[in-house]
Amino acid sequence: MERIGAHSHIRGLGLNALLEPRPHADSEGMVGQAKARKAAGLILKMVRESKIAGRAILMAGPPSSGKTAIALGMAQSLGPDVPFTMISASEVYSLSMSKTEGLTQAFRRSIGVRIKEETEIIEGEVVEIQIDRSLTGAQTTGRLTIKTLDMETVYDLGTKMIDALSKEKVIAGDVISIDRASGKINKLGRSYTRSRDYDATGADTRFVQTPSGEIQTRKEVVHTVTLHEIDVINSRTQGFLALFAGDTGEIKPELRAQIDSKVSEWREEGKAEIVPGVLFIDEVHMLDIECFSFLNRALEQELAPLVIMASNRGMARIRGTKYKSPHGLPVDLLDRVLIITTAKYEPEDIEKIIQIRCTEEDTKLTHEALNILTSMAMSTTLRYALNLISCAQVAALKRKSPGGMVDVEDLRKCYTFFLDEKRSVQWVGEGTAGLIGEHEEESQHRMEE
Ligand SMILES: Nc1ncnc2c1ncn2[C@@H]1O[C@H](COP(=O)(O)OP(=O)(O)O)[C@@H](O)[C@H]1O
Ligand SMILES: [Mg+2]
Repeated sequence: MERIGAHSHIRGLGLNALLEPRPHADSEGMVGQAKARKAAGLILKMVRESKIAGRAILMAGPPSSGKTAIALGMAQSLGPDVPFTMISASEVYSLSMSKTEGLTQAFRRSIGVRIKEETEIIEGEVVEIQIDRSLTGAQTTGRLTIKTLDMETVYDLGTKMIDALSKEKVIAGDVISIDRASGKINKLGRSYTRSRDYDATGADTRFVQTPSGEIQTRKEVVHTVTLHEIDVINSRTQGFLALFAGDTGEIKPELRAQIDSKVSEWREEGKAEIVPGVLFIDEVHMLDIECFSFLNRALEQELAPLVIMASNRGMARIRGTKYKSPHGLPVDLLDRVLIITTAKYEPEDIEKIIQIRCTEEDTKLTHEALNILTSMAMSTTLRYALNLISCAQVAALKRKSPGGMVDVEDLRKCYTFFLDEKRSVQWVGEGTAGLIGEHEEESQHRMEE
């Protein structure tokens, strides 16, 4: 079963070729917020044409107005080999590496290197496989005879190739291709000329033409890896397994410098191409002044991705200083970002988002319940309302409501069970809850003194 995350209904930005929002049924899970989506679509277009690396975008708007959702929508429309990295700003405060190392890794994870490689492919119909076993059985050698419509060649086989051929159950009459560098064998099907060999054919046998022309051809293959992956693989202390464990530790700056110069060498030789991707830093106001100055520098470097940041702060203190600044970002950084704003939702949009989430979570609401939940979302937040859906469904199932339909009473029950932000502020503020607050603690200390 696929896990249903908060944004699992988002499959893109839902824009047409002219960057206009598509109608609701075809909107890839997106609702409303047209201006921000169009701006995001424009940025995406520039990313795809590699025109916008090294720039920064700030998405500013109130909580639960779709900032993260839009960033994820962008990620989904980027195409498979453009890297997209998403971090939350607080992730850089980790014990295992410095803040700047964390940011550097995030940057390098967002830059792809498309490497072109020429490999030799052997492709044809197998005529015969001969295997000679030595008397001791320790060594096996053999020969593979392979043909196209135009020619026939015999190749010597080593133990490794023989194992690979028998593992793939290759027999005479199969059409195969072999990657010479890696030795990887690909069975393409059985030759048409063998379609009368009933012994060797099953119901699902695929018949193909015997290829024509040369047996051995050169083919260009393209892989995309990120700079971070190249760093990790080449760092002697880590080894590539660290990629899976995610436990990469710090990587030496000298190694990165070496890799950068190697990559630029490849670029000059036409062997590699840089694919600038996207780095999304959510809750960016959690970064401190040191991180911001690092960001400023990093954006100016030659290999930089597009950086998208999101903040829900208005005037806020910049962490690590006593200054206040819009969105909690220092003015010099703010000066170089393009700002996309997201607005609070209208009731119609909220209703649609709720409906989409209900389909996603396999929950049915009665008409009245939908109305109530929409107005709850208006008076609390959209996220609170969306969180209530699954709770209300459990409540509905518990009371064995017909068809598992969620009704007003289920919502009302959950609304009283779980506080939203406003009510929690009120509850704490009343001071009757018996919680320990910072002020109280202070006064206690003073009394002890
Ligand atoms: N325009 C939208 N279309 C569809 N779903 C949305 C939209 N905006 C927000 N949501 C959903 O509402 C919830 C809150 O939005 P989110 O993107 O997390 O807000 P923010 O990041 O601005 O605080 C998420 O589950 C998100 O997927
Ligand atoms: Mg968010």
